[in-house]
Amino acid sequence: MTKIVPYALIGIVGLAIAGFLRQRRQPIPTPPRLTFLFENPLVEAFAGPELLVERLGLAPGMQVLDAGCGPGRLTIPLARAVEPTGEIVALDSQRAMLEKLEHRLEAENITNVRILEAGLGEGALPREAFDRVLLAFVLGEVRDREAAGRELYAALKPGRILSVTEIFGDPDYRRPASVRHEVEPAGFELVEHFGGFPVYTLNFRRPEHLATHKTSPEASDFG
Ligand SMILES: C[S@@+](CC[C@H](N)C(=O)[O-])C[C@H]1O[C@@H](n2cnc3c(N)ncnc32)[C@H](O)[C@@H]1O
Repeated sequence: MTKIVPYALIGIVGLAIAGFLRQRRQPIPTPPRLTFLFENPLVEAFAGPELLVERLGLAPGMQVLDAGCGPGRLTIPLARAVEPTGEIVALDSQRAMLEKLEHRLEAENITNVRILEAGLGEGALPREAFDRVLLAFVLGEVRDREAAGRELYAALKPGRILSVTEIFGDPDYRRPASVRHEVEPAGFELVEHFGGFPVYTLNFRRPEHLATHKTSPEASDFG
């Protein structure tokens, strides 16, 4: 019996490594049943909403895209930071995540959040609509990151900010150099770097005067 234990441990570690490598090669979005992976006291301590909201430089009245919002860990604090006239668009590709968010919005009586079920890079976003775009623990889950970068560039108003936050230990963790490599080709320029290990944030600006990039022809203004 005791001889089985080391083999079982080796098997579990092997499976964990295989899962980790598979996720690096072919990322899939975090399943809704695993939200405890990013909604827990440890993540709260290093990348809580207060810190990330501060790094975004929000002001009342801003239009903000919470891209890959999940169940809304950050969406509700963002919504409060831009009240009374600002609005959050909460985008996620998974319906079940957005359903969790809807329940939370109702419970908290938040009315300035618009929900958008869509994949990043698929052309669902309006152009030049946002003052801030937030990508917290999301970029590594997106398969076509360059298409996402182009879409987010087009969705930001000129001169406004894309903020990317990553946490070490996430199987989808992107190093700062990889994030720059993936989003700068869209035309962004790095303007701020906060934090380091285990959580960092890079803020990129869409320059005021460069030409906009083309997203898919279906890209439309909504609302
Ligand atoms: C790790 S969760 C982070 C949630 C939230 N940003 C936070 O910090 O609490 C990543 C979220 O990104 C979403 N996501 C992953 N790939 C996506 C894509 N291509 N388009 C839109 N959402 C995506 C997932 O469904 C998931 O809800």
